Amino acid sequence: MAHFRKDFLWGGAVAANQVEGGYNEGGKGLSVTDITTAGSLESPRYLTYTLDGKDGKVAGMFASSLPKGAKGKIFDNEYYPNHVAIDFYHHYKEDIKMFADMGFKVFRTSIAWTRIFPTGEEDKPNQEGLDFYRRVFEELKKNGIEPLVTISHYEDPLALGEKYNDWQDRKMIDLYVKYATTLFKEYKDLVKYWLTFNEINSSLMFLKLVGDGKVSDADYQKAYQKLHHQFVASAKAVVAGHKINPDFMIGNMIAGSVYYPGTPDPKDALAARYEEELSQLYCADAQAKGEYPSFAKRLWDEHNVHLKIEDGDLEVMKEGKVDMYTFSYYMSNMVTTHDVGEKAKGNFAAGAKNPYLEYSEWGWSTDPDGLQLYLEKMYDRYGIPMMVVENGLGAVDKLEDGTVHDDYRIDYLRKHIKAMDKAVEHGVDLLAYTTWGCIDCVSAGTGQMSKRYGFIYVDRDDKGEGTLKRLPKDSYYWYQKVIASNGDEL
Ligand code: BG6
Repeated sequence: MAHFRKDFLWGGAVAANQVEGGYNEGGKGLSVTDITTAGSLESPRYLTYTLDGKDGKVAGMFASSLPKGAKGKIFDNEYYPNHVAIDFYHHYKEDIKMFADMGFKVFRTSIAWTRIFPTGEEDKPNQEGLDFYRRVFEELKKNGIEPLVTISHYEDPLALGEKYNDWQDRKMIDLYVKYATTLFKEYKDLVKYWLTFNEINSSLMFLKLVGDGKVSDADYQKAYQKLHHQFVASAKAVVAGHKINPDFMIGNMIAGSVYYPGTPDPKDALAARYEEELSQLYCADAQAKGEYPSFAKRLWDEHNVHLKIEDGDLEVMKEGKVDMYTFSYYMSNMVTTHDVGEKAKGNFAAGAKNPYLEYSEWGWSTDPDGLQLYLEKMYDRYGIPMMVVENGLGAVDKLEDGTVHDDYRIDYLRKHIKAMDKAVEHGVDLLAYTTWGCIDCVSAGTGQMSKRYGFIYVDRDDKGEGTLKRLPKDSYYWYQKVIASNGDEL
C-alpha cells in the first residue's frame, strides 16, 4: 500500500509561455520569451534585439537579460517557438478534458504577466487577459481540477526587462506586487494554491552553466541584488495574498537538486555542501525561514557583493514567509575538487558525471533516491508542507500507429513516485505531485519540441510544422491508473 494522503493532488504542470502561443493576441504585450529563438543541446537559444540601430543577439534562456540600452526585436529570419507553442490559448478546453479523463486533481500553469499588464506599468489590467485565465480556471474547476498558479515563470514583460535591467531596479518590487495583488483579488474564489517565482534560485544556479562558464564579481552582484528584490517582492505578495484570502497557500519554487561529493576526500564533502548552500539553501532559507542564512555573508564576501538592503526589507521577508515548500526535481549533481574525466552537460547538469547513474540524451541524470533525500532533508529543515511541482523525463518520442510507446517515461516516473512514497512513509507532509510538461510543450532550455515530457503527444516539430493534434501516449493510460489507485498501482 502506498502512503500518500487521501486528498493527494496528482496532476501535471506547464508554463504559460511554453504552451499558450497567441503571443500577440488578446491585448498581450511582449514577454522576454517572445524574443527568444529556438536552440538545441549543441546551440544556445538567443535573445534578439536592436542596439544603436544595429541588430544583435545574446545567448540566453530562463529570462536572461538584454545588453544595457538594447530593445528586444523579433527578426524575420529567426524562429521563435513560443509564439505559437502548442496553442493552448485556443485548445485549453480540449486539453483540460484530456487531463480530467486522466484523473488529474491539480493542474499547474502560470500566468503571462503581459496578458494582464502588457508592459508591466499600466494602471489598469487588461480585461481580455483576466477573462482568458478566468475561463481556464473555471474550466478546470468544472472538471474537478484544482488550479496551482505560478505568478512569474521565466517571462517578465519585455518592456520591464529593457527599462529596469533585469530586476536591478527596486521599482520591479512594486510592479510585481501590483500584478500579484491583481491576480489574488481577481481569482480569490477560484485559485487557492499560488507560487511566487518559478525556480527563483536559477539566478545563482545557472550562472556557471550559461555562456562560457566564466562568472565575474559583477555578475554575482547582479544576481544577488536581483534575488534580494525578488525575495522582498515575494514576501510582500505573500502578506497581501493572506489579507485577500487567509486560506491561500502560497509557496516558493526552487529548482531542487542534491549535491554529492565526488570522492571521500573531505574537501569534496565541503565543496558539495558549499554548492548546496549557494544553489539551494540561500534562496530556500530566504523564503521559507524568512531570513538570510548564516553563510550568506561568506557567499557575498567571496565575490565582493554589496547588497543594497533598505529599511523594512528584512522585516517584510520575515513576515512574508511561504506556506509551503515547492520545488522541481529532475536530477542530482556531483561535486569534486579532483580532476574528473567526463562532465555532465545540459542546463541543469553541473560538475562531474556520476558513475552510478544513467543519463538522458540531454545529459540529465536519473536519480530517484536523490528525490527522496531532498524531500526528507528539506522537510526536516523547514517543516512546512511540500509539493513536487515538476519532475519528468525529456525524451525523443517515436509516433507509431497514432501513439507513443513511452515505457522509458513510465519507468522514470514510477521510480520517482516510489521515492516520494518512501519519503511520505518517513514522515514528509507531501501535498502534490505535478509532472513537468504533462502535455508536450516547448523546452525552456533548448526551445525544442522534440524534447518531450508529456502524457499527451502534440503533433508539432522543432521548426513549427505539424497539425497540433493531441494524442494520448502509453504513459497517459498508466498515469490514469496511478491516480485512480492513489499511487498503489505503479
Ligand atoms: C524547469 C522549468 O527548468 O525545467 C521549466 O521550470 C522547464 O520551465 C523544465 O521546461 C524542463 O527544462 P527543459 O529545458 O527540458 O524544458
